[in-house]
Parts: sequence; structure tokens; C-alpha cells
Amino acid sequence: MATLIDGRAMARALGERTADAVAGLKADGIDPALAVVLVGHDPASEIYVRRKIGECRKAGIGSIEKRLAADCGEQALLDLIDGLNADPAVHGILVQLPLPAGIDAARVLDRISPAKDVDGFHPVNVGRLSTGSQSLVPCTPLGIMLLLDSVIDDYRGLNVVVIGKSNIVGKPVAMLLLEREATVTVTHIETRNLPDIARAADVIVAAAGAPHLVRGYWVKPGAVVIDVGITRVVDHDGNSRIVGDCATHELDHAKAVTPVPGGVGPMTIACLLSNTVTAAQRSIG
Ligand code: GUN
Repeated sequence: MATLIDGRAMARALGERTADAVAGLKADGIDPALAVVLVGHDPASEIYVRRKIGECRKAGIGSIEKRLAADCGEQALLDLIDGLNADPAVHGILVQLPLPAGIDAARVLDRISPAKDVDGFHPVNVGRLSTGSQSLVPCTPLGIMLLLDSVIDDYRGLNVVVIGKSNIVGKPVAMLLLEREATVTVTHIETRNLPDIARAADVIVAAAGAPHLVRGYWVKPGAVVIDVGITRVVDHDGNSRIVGDCATHELDHAKAVTPVPGGVGPMTIACLLSNTVTAAQRSIG
């Protein structure tokens, strides 16, 4: 039987370390705070933002919720970010994606101060990540590395296959794994012979957003499988549920797998809080 990597338990443990760090900052007179910016009323974004703010409260991190109408215009959003960049009481800034049509997400992310960019999406942080220098690391890839660290001591020479080349997960997690001297293959929608490529992997990170894409015969015995997918599907009986990118019920021969839900998801939010504390700590040198 494959070990199930318990993302909820690991997120709780990281949350406790973050809460300790928050207490330390408060003892030094710093109240760490995260600004969360939501433009419009995308239903999934509303849920994510509510969860992020709720988790901040539990960890003792202040949250500043800023809402703009979907038709606010790009300049209003850039002005809001300028204000948050200049506010010493704000340590982290997160603009929830996706943004409404007509707003250039790249221009918006460029505007966030790299020191407050807790999502790690600013080109300066992306560049630092790719050169192995100190950056704020995107939350999902950071969480994936912590999950992998619970079952892997030494990445040197391991064959890792990352499925999906997104800026949020695939590309940054590939950079982190390269830094650990794994041999990394990044695959995507146009990749040929994906099952054969996957079968050579010691580690698979599945971040394609394609339910049950990774089947049992794609996975070599003893491989570690990280499932980043979260797709809501409706069963024939009309009930909806969340499924991952991996057919986990076919993966008994793997060494370890992450469940969906309860794997990568909880770690992503825990890493957002941890990044906020990191940004607050760096703000005082
Ligand atoms: N939308 C989906 N994932 C993310 C994320 O990690 N950060 C932000 N800001 N928006 C998202």
C-alpha cells in the first residue's frame, strides 16, 4: 500500500511554526498583515479569499480585505497596489487571480513590491527563483517541496516528471527541484508519449488540471506522486466532488501519494501565511 502523505497534518504543523513566528514578531512590536485584493465576484475566488482571511485570523496575522468592482478599471487597481506598497503596516499583498477581462494581470503583478509579493509571481521573484537566490517562493510549489521532503531525503539524480507548465505550479516547482539537483522533465498538453515519460519517473508532480489523467500503469513501482489537481466533477447521481489529476485508487504500487482533497491544498494556504511572516521578518532586516 502506498503511504498517504497527510497534507492537513503537515499544514497544521507549519501553521504552528508560523503562529510561533507571529508571536515573536509581535513581541518585537511588528503586527504581520496581509492585504488580499479581490476584483469582481468570481465565485471560486470568493471562496479562496474567505479561506485565506480565515486562516490568517487563526494564525494571528492581520488581514486587510480590499474589494474592487469588476469594472473598476486597471488604473484603480494599480493605484490601490501603490497605496499598499507604500503602507508600512502591510507586509504581504495578494491579488486574487483570475482578474476580470480588460485588466492586464502581468501589469498588475509587476506593480506589487517584490518584497511584499507573497504569491511569488513578480518577475523579480521569478528571476530570483530561477537563479537560486533568495526570493518569495510561490505557495503551491513551496508546499509541494515540503510534502516531498517528508518522504525524500536526497533529490540528487532523481528523475522527476512535472505534468503541466503553468507559471503558478509547473515552472516554479521545476526550478525548486532543479535547485536540489533532480533531473527534471516538464511536460505539457503537447507532450508526446506522456505515459512512457511518466513511467521513467521517481517522482511525478501532476499539475495539469485534468481529472484522473495519471493512471496506475503510468507510475513505476516505488514512485512518489504529488497530485496538484482540484477539479469539481458531478457524478451520475448528481453529487459533486473534488477529484485530482491522478487515479489514486490505481496507485497502490507507489511509494507515497498525496490525497485530494487533503494533500497539496492545505499546504498552499499554510505557505501563504508562512510567506507573509517571512516578508514581515525581512521588513525589519
Ligand atoms: N488563483 C488561483 N491560484 C492562485 C494563487 O495561488 N494566487 C492568487 N493570487 N490567485 C490564485
